[in-house]
Amino acid sequence: MCGIVGYIGKKQAVPILLDGLKRLEYRGYDSAGISVIANGKMVTTKATGKVVELENKIGSKRIEANIGIAHTRWATHGKPCDKNSHPHGDCSGDIALVHNGIIENYLELKNQLQQKGHKFSSETDSEVVAHLIEEFSKKNDFREAVLESLKLIKGTYGLAILNKKYPSQMIVARLGSPLILGVGKDEVIVASDASAIVQYTDKVVYLEDGEVAIINTEGYEVITSKNKQIEKKVSTLDWNMEQAQKNGFAHFMLKETFEQPETIKNAMRGRLSKEDGMAKLGGLRDVEDKLKKINRIIIVSCGTSYNAGLIGEYMIEEYAGIPVEVEYASEFRYRKPLLDSKTAVIAISQSGETADTLAAIREAKNKGALTLGIINTVSSTIARETDAGVYNHAGPEIGVASTKAFTSQLTILALLAVFLGRQRDMSLVTGQRIISELEKIPNQIEKILEKHKEIKKIAKKYVGFSDFLYMGRKYNFPIALEGALKIKEISYVHAEGYATGEMKHGPIALIDASFPSLFIVPKDSVYDKNVSGMQEIKARSGKILAIATKGDTEISKHADDVIYIPKTLEMLTPLLSVIPLQLLAYYVGVYRGFDVDKPRNLAKSVTVE
Ligand code: G6P
Repeated sequence: MCGIVGYIGKKQAVPILLDGLKRLEYRGYDSAGISVIANGKMVTTKATGKVVELENKIGSKRIEANIGIAHTRWATHGKPCDKNSHPHGDCSGDIALVHNGIIENYLELKNQLQQKGHKFSSETDSEVVAHLIEEFSKKNDFREAVLESLKLIKGTYGLAILNKKYPSQMIVARLGSPLILGVGKDEVIVASDASAIVQYTDKVVYLEDGEVAIINTEGYEVITSKNKQIEKKVSTLDWNMEQAQKNGFAHFMLKETFEQPETIKNAMRGRLSKEDGMAKLGGLRDVEDKLKKINRIIIVSCGTSYNAGLIGEYMIEEYAGIPVEVEYASEFRYRKPLLDSKTAVIAISQSGETADTLAAIREAKNKGALTLGIINTVSSTIARETDAGVYNHAGPEIGVASTKAFTSQLTILALLAVFLGRQRDMSLVTGQRIISELEKIPNQIEKILEKHKEIKKIAKKYVGFSDFLYMGRKYNFPIALEGALKIKEISYVHAEGYATGEMKHGPIALIDASFPSLFIVPKDSVYDKNVSGMQEIKARSGKILAIATKGDTEISKHADDVIYIPKTLEMLTPLLSVIPLQLLAYYVGVYRGFDVDKPRNLAKSVTVE
């Protein structure tokens, strides 16, 4: 996601800010920018692309400044280009700010400010904050103007703000988007991520949600949004650079697995309309009427994104009543698909660059189908080439094995099922039920993540086996595929995902005491059928690890080990059942001594056939 750096002190700010941005590069981004107050003037430079482009633009200009803010942007609102890059300013040019997060009510605020005569120069949600501060500055000092503005903002933010009229002050604020103050001798470095701070100081103050810091060269003061002072503890960082980028986790994959409560919230943010039981998908607005008329959907994707598509098929068919086919993009592109204008072809892709998925979308477009994308990387090729789409907002995924992108894809598919369903005959009550169950998912995932130690122990127990059969039915059949794929990818253990009902048509021949099975068996409409499958395995001395619903007291009679997940709607169980499987694959990989972030022979984004 976006990265923030700020500096205030006695040193030259520009090199420190550029260095900080480079240290945030691992997060991935599409543009960068910097603002400093030099000789009483606000000097802003922005560049699309890498930090080096920004550095080249600044070139040999010696900008003498001891205060500044900088940003790397991962586009959410508005395409990546210089004008949408941060820092953003107000009309007068006094204010400059950088922002991480999403201002949900920015359109409403923008309209009000435009009516008061404010002129906007970008398409971003962030710029609205600069104009709000300008508006409140008419009657207030800098601090008051910021506090008043924050009261009106709905959404999330990590903000660092400069005001030319206050050339030795920086104000930062946090709500739902991390900010850390690095406290050095006569200087403070602000960053969204410790990796931009570790090389300067190990003394840090972590801002909490709702806190604001007023920083100047003498020090800093932390206050609440109601202007009440807070005593903050100064902590000592004992991370090196790489550990800081992983936020203290041993691997990116583990960090990304633990980010899922947050990334699922990001996928839902601003998209739930509880009152009318509807999903608000802004990226589909232009094709809403076409979507009312479609009578068939084909989902094309690869790898983990393909497994998400399979769950989407169940969701959309059950709740929107539209026939769905899911196809490997690599197959679709070379056969003769029968498509017409009433078919929507949906590409699911984390990177938005997978060569086969892109080719499939181009083929679908040529044949006159409506093309849509469920994509994580804003402005990636597939995002640009599809007619419309929904972004995941999961932030960059660095671990090669996909985790948080998968669950955010499932979240969006659930929203899409509600959207398409409500366009057709889904009742208000059903729409509302799905939305309220979806809202609970992030907390329920937290509960599963809290059990990581228990899952680690189970992984240790199973680490010696070289084959696995993963099984599930209905919504959890694709989770059997995904669980098996995860353990294959990072632990190099042979695993097959199967629909429980198919087991007796082949795989059962493999079962003996040395070939364990993993059953995903939540209390759902196919529970009894799954349990029968477990009994068949037990009868052949097969070891069983089960993923079951909390409160299911029967299941332990049929399984050697059980990991419990909370109860949710049947269509949403995959969002929960996949979490223990990600952790299991991770720990087995770690126990086997492999580099789980970079599994052999695999690439994060496959841009060749
Ligand atoms: C590669 C990655 C997988 C990913 C697949 C599809 O194989 O290793 O994690 O699921 O590509 O990638 P996409 O970016 O299109 O989702």
